[in-house]
Amino acid sequence: MTESVAQAAAQAAPGAAPGAVYLADYRAPSHWVDEVHLTFRLAPGATRVRARIRFRPNPEAPGPFRLDGEGLTLIGAAIDGRPVSPDVDARGLTCAVPDAPFTWEAEVEIAPEANTALEGLYMSKGMYCTQCEAEGFRKITFYPDRPDVMAPFTVRIEADTPVMLSNGDPVAQGAGWAEWHDPWPKPAYLFALVAGDLVAVSDRFTTASGREVALNVWVRPGDEGKCDYALDALKRSMRWDEEVYGREYDLSVFNIVAVDDFNMGAMENKGLNIFNSRYVLASPQTATDRDYEMIEGIIAHEYFHNWTGNRITCRDWFQLCLKEGLTVFRDQQFTGEMRSHAVKRIDDVLLLRARQFREDNGPLAHPVRPENYIEINNFYTATVYEKGAEVIGMLKRLVGDDGYRRALDLYFARHDGEAATIEDWLTVFEDATGRDLSQFKRWYAQAGTPRLEVSEEYRDGRFTLHLRQHTPPTPGQPEKHPQVIPVAVGLLNPNGDEVVPTTILEMTEAEQSFTFEGLAARPVPSILRGFSAPVILERRTTPEERAFLLAHDTDPFNKWEAGRQLAKDVLVDMVTRDAEPGGAYLDALERMLRDDTLDPAFRALALRLPGEDDMAQTLHDAGTTPDPDAIHAARRRLEARVAQHLRGVLPGLYEAMNLPGPYTPDAKAAGCRALRQAALTLITRLDDGATAARQVASADNMTEELGALGCLLSVGNGAGGEALSAFYRRWRHDRLVIDKWFSLQIAQAMPDRAAEIARDLTRHPDFDWKNPNRFRALFGALATHPAGFHRADGAAYDLLADWLIRLDPVNPQTTARMTTAFETIGRYDADRQDLMRAALGRIAAAPGLSRDTSEMVGRILGG
Ligand code: TRP
Ligand code: ZN
Repeated sequence: MTESVAQAAAQAAPGAAPGAVYLADYRAPSHWVDEVHLTFRLAPGATRVRARIRFRPNPEAPGPFRLDGEGLTLIGAAIDGRPVSPDVDARGLTCAVPDAPFTWEAEVEIAPEANTALEGLYMSKGMYCTQCEAEGFRKITFYPDRPDVMAPFTVRIEADTPVMLSNGDPVAQGAGWAEWHDPWPKPAYLFALVAGDLVAVSDRFTTASGREVALNVWVRPGDEGKCDYALDALKRSMRWDEEVYGREYDLSVFNIVAVDDFNMGAMENKGLNIFNSRYVLASPQTATDRDYEMIEGIIAHEYFHNWTGNRITCRDWFQLCLKEGLTVFRDQQFTGEMRSHAVKRIDDVLLLRARQFREDNGPLAHPVRPENYIEINNFYTATVYEKGAEVIGMLKRLVGDDGYRRALDLYFARHDGEAATIEDWLTVFEDATGRDLSQFKRWYAQAGTPRLEVSEEYRDGRFTLHLRQHTPPTPGQPEKHPQVIPVAVGLLNPNGDEVVPTTILEMTEAEQSFTFEGLAARPVPSILRGFSAPVILERRTTPEERAFLLAHDTDPFNKWEAGRQLAKDVLVDMVTRDAEPGGAYLDALERMLRDDTLDPAFRALALRLPGEDDMAQTLHDAGTTPDPDAIHAARRRLEARVAQHLRGVLPGLYEAMNLPGPYTPDAKAAGCRALRQAALTLITRLDDGATAARQVASADNMTEELGALGCLLSVGNGAGGEALSAFYRRWRHDRLVIDKWFSLQIAQAMPDRAAEIARDLTRHPDFDWKNPNRFRALFGALATHPAGFHRADGAAYDLLADWLIRLDPVNPQTTARMTTAFETIGRYDADRQDLMRAALGRIAAAPGLSRDTSEMVGRILGG
């Protein structure tokens, strides 16, 4: 890397906050760990943890001996067998130690039963489990809780539970105890322990080199029937990583545990992945197609971490995207292969725009590799994960498939067993391909979404694209520099044939032009094919040209994108000028829908109208203050117009997509159901829910039951009330289905009713607010109902603020995450901004507010 670029990229850290940690301050640890022995005597109110740890001074970074530790009662400590009295403070301890290798022993007491934050050792429905990433291990014992300290672990568990699990391979077990040994050196954040009354659904896997691996999915008794899909996804993931990345599994057992109380999706602990039960348990009657796809993707994601995250881990938490961006990229590739690359790409871009662009365009914008943080848990973000994956996709596009494979092989060969950095990662690409990536590195350092302006010129067979990039300022980064942008372009001639197939234009300057010669007529360009870079394309064009691309583009992403842009243009006109949708859009939609050569899943996506939050951002970008009610009304009106226009096609399509035979979760069947649902949504605008009501009554799977119920509720005027009650009575004993019941009635509420419905639901006996899934089911639904959340009197802001204040002392991590509901504050009118600021101010003023939440609120308020 050249100095100047690295420096330009590492611009001013935003307002250095007290307690912040800086990337630039990284120092190697003063002591390495050679071996860890842990003994747990589990009891809900008083668990004893004994640690015996071999330490060795690091001659390259000599310094005092300090261990992290929070909320631990120290019973006793010894060094080389002699009792010592360390200095314990709120965040750890210091102790005088020999200037040579030594054995540290400590016994601490903790109370898993009282741990509602779900970090460290806690209990979920009588079961013990752990969550250590990022800094939860320090709530279990005193330790250098940082990812660059890696060691093999031996763990003994003593408990009165039938099942006791930890990382690695089982060593021995007896009545009331079990021992595990993990030979692979790992950082503490990958430690895990589970104990409880669990049952396993098991299988086996033989690796490419012949290792026999026992696979188990552990669940609470009663859930055994819902594990088959997760197990199947696991086996497919294991095979795929061997075939595509040459990566094999490295232990004799792979355990997955499902727990109900979990702050995030899942966790890649070595040999013992722990999952939010919603991403494991599935049956056709209780899980939707979307659930199945998420399970497949998350099982793969956590499994893939075994190499990208565990065997090669991160030097420090600033490097989080090293494991997360890469592992997301890998799980995206996997899902594309299992299902449809085109559909997966569209889904991923929808998610990227909805979450990452939103983040990048607001007060929480930060680089893929942040340069400082107060609470690292707040940086498990769409930027680190999703934009981190996009950056890897761009790298692959730039160096080609072979270059990518060579670079990855080198990465695994060179860094196995190490804690690596983004510099290591990029160097591997430079060494394997000979490419200079110093400018490319800006993608890791510069926050914000680049805008790519395109204009064209055609003369005498020469077609020129003029490209211009600029990135708006983000907090702490007022000035931006040009980035390397791979722009995939293809050209079509006026009769729809492709005259120039996909070519990658490598943009490196602020302004650059690219010329294509020898064309017979002015071509229609298809720009940013496959969404080749995470940028916002700004190009004025006509509805006719968009309709032309929707009909003829050979690139499935851009084909979809053309329809999407058409719909957005139409919606903008409907919101701002009260216009009626034009014929170009409606006719193009109909042609596309009638085209049976197109994958139903693709057609379903093309039929889905842009969401309200997307429209709010689009209007804001175009300089218009979004009115959430007007957007909601316009979108509703467009749905009705589209339905009217397509009324001749919809019933036939709805029938044609009705598959005979029992439910199967495969992508093909799911695609048909998605198209059938898209048709039903429109039919509902024509028949006030008559078809949906029939489907609610006849559905034999959750995808169709929930889809129809949502349509019925969307009619309003109390329609669907009885069906909603019946749904509750039928499913009240299934917590994952009841989460859907909470969400759906808020998601489908009329804007002026959403907050009241949410408030009433907080009084429902099943509103177990300490359970993150239930809390998110309710408030996540409210926060993602733009017209409901942004109601003009601020009632929804206040309701959410009240509950975030209540949740914060119980579970800071989930509270902090949910404050992102307010990250779009800058888009709205002054009155709404005042109301949001008042709600955030109340949260900020709550006594004893957690570090997690105060960092988030401070950043949103621009502090
Ligand atoms: N590393 C996990 C993943 O991406 C996510 C994770 C980070 C997490 N922190 C967590 C999960 C806390 C649960 C709780 O797969
Ligand atoms: Zn991950």
